[in-house]
Amino acid sequence: MRVAVCISGRGSNLGALLGGLGAADPEVVVVISNRESAGGLQLARERGIPTVVLNHSGDAVEWNAVLDTWRIDLVVLAGFLKQVPDPVVDRYQGRMLNVHPSLLPSHGGPGMYGLHVHRAVLTAKDRESGASVHLVTSRYDEGPVLGQARVPVLHDDTAESLAARVLEVEHRLLPAAVRAAGRAGRAAPFTLDD
Ligand code: GRF
Repeated sequence: MRVAVCISGRGSNLGALLGGLGAADPEVVVVISNRESAGGLQLARERGIPTVVLNHSGDAVEWNAVLDTWRIDLVVLAGFLKQVPDPVVDRYQGRMLNVHPSLLPSHGGPGMYGLHVHRAVLTAKDRESGASVHLVTSRYDEGPVLGQARVPVLHDDTAESLAARVLEVEHRLLPAAVRAAGRAGRAAPFTLDD
């Protein structure tokens, strides 16, 4: 199974994914970003993984040319902050995953990314948070959730301390999701033990 990972930032989830896939698992064959300055591109280049920076992240034709060139079976959004064009989401229905740093459906949707998510969890006085991997649909963070991992919210948590605790489980959740997809031949429900 050939995987494209899409990033916009430092790519710590990309790094965790690369470290969590073995020879029998899906292979990350290209890393795509909407920003040349995304730190995760350097991480890919250091590992000899081809990278592509999109000129127009809203252009389905450009997306499809890249996905065709690399013969992509599974698209993984790992901190990709742009909306994937609908024709591409439709084409990869059931084969496009996103990792989100909350227990969806709580605290998802437009504008809910990074520290905004964790601030919302603290404001809501939730006793726990976590990470979710879900199928991507044309609306932010609304696709079926395939797996989640929970963490406690501590009384003295800041958005930053909660973000760090959630990121740690993200780094275990995403590799488990992709390994499970490799075994099933498509994105499928999974647990952290996969
Ligand atoms: C992660 O919190 C992920 O859940 C969210 O964006 C962040 C990406 O972080 N979608 P990184 O670039 O993988 O470090």
